[in-house]
Amino acid sequence: MASFAEIHKSPYTALANAVLGNPLAGRVILITGAGRGVGEHITHQMAIAGAERIGLIGRNEPRILATRDKFAKVYTGTTFEAFTADITDEKAIHAVFESFGAPDILINNAGTFSDDGPFVEQNLKAWWTGFETNILGTAIVTQQFLRTKPKGKTAVVLNVTSMGAHMRFPLVGFSGYNGSKMEQVRIFESIRFEHPEVRFINIHPGNIQSDGFVKSKSPVPRDGMTDGVVTGQFLVWLVSEEADFLSGRFVWAEWDIDELKAKKTEILEQNLLLTTIDGFKNDF
Ligand SMILES: NC(=O)c1ccc[n+]([C@@H]2O[C@H](COP(=O)([O-])OP(=O)(O)OC[C@H]3O[C@@H](n4cnc5c(N)ncnc54)[C@H](OP(=O)(O)O)[C@@H]3O)[C@@H](O)[C@H]2O)c1
Repeated sequence: MASFAEIHKSPYTALANAVLGNPLAGRVILITGAGRGVGEHITHQMAIAGAERIGLIGRNEPRILATRDKFAKVYTGTTFEAFTADITDEKAIHAVFESFGAPDILINNAGTFSDDGPFVEQNLKAWWTGFETNILGTAIVTQQFLRTKPKGKTAVVLNVTSMGAHMRFPLVGFSGYNGSKMEQVRIFESIRFEHPEVRFINIHPGNIQSDGFVKSKSPVPRDGMTDGVVTGQFLVWLVSEEADFLSGRFVWAEWDIDELKAKKTEILEQNLLLTTIDGFKNDF
């Protein structure tokens, strides 16, 4: 499959080295959907990278508490706080920020796959619930974060979207998911102009074995599934100063970081990794 950069499905030395030495020491992180799947992998690598405090959000209380306790036992230098909340519930998310405060790094990971077959056969109310979680829920968390964050304070917002936002693969049963994931990207591409002090990055996390992946009935890629360690380490790297040039852009967690760095000038001068329609030259 064509790609922007070499793909890594399993951990590799350059990325592992880039996240050595507690790069997140003193940093405060809040992550949605942290109890399982992709979010659990990201939380794990953020803890290994020495984060000072990590807030975990999920709807399933026993699960989010179990994930908190599992990590707290091993990573004793990090404080873990669990919150049971639905990201589409504005009041509940407001309460999370009142209790936790504004993190340095917000990770919008919670998402859902609500398609059930071809578009023409869908119950659109059920189909729409995916938009409510993926778009409205992500917007609620991000808005509450921006309202809580002291004005002008720098921050990083990592938005876990999907290759489905931009890939043209001929799969049946992805209309709602792909549409909602694309909209997430456009929201962050838009609000980055309103908040230049925040590094917003949209990310495809790779194809990771999870409940969500099974539910989507996505085919297993020919080159295999992605190890969640790569995804988590890549997100840790995205917080580093080295990755600042990716602000506002869309990246895949599997892309080789040395190749990305080598393409920095090309990315910036040619406005790459931003959405557009093919053939349209966009100067912004
Ligand atoms: N796995 C992949 O291959 C893949 C590929 C591309 C993109 N992604 C994206 O990666 C993210 C995580 O996917 P996943 O595969 O880990 O999915 P998953 O196994 O279904 O897990 C979804 C996570 O989101 C949380 N969540 C869902 N709805 C929520 C809500 N309304 N409020 C709060 N938390 C909610 C769930 O926690 P509770 O159930 O406890 O609330 C769970 O932790 C999603 O945004 C997905 O689109 C995944």
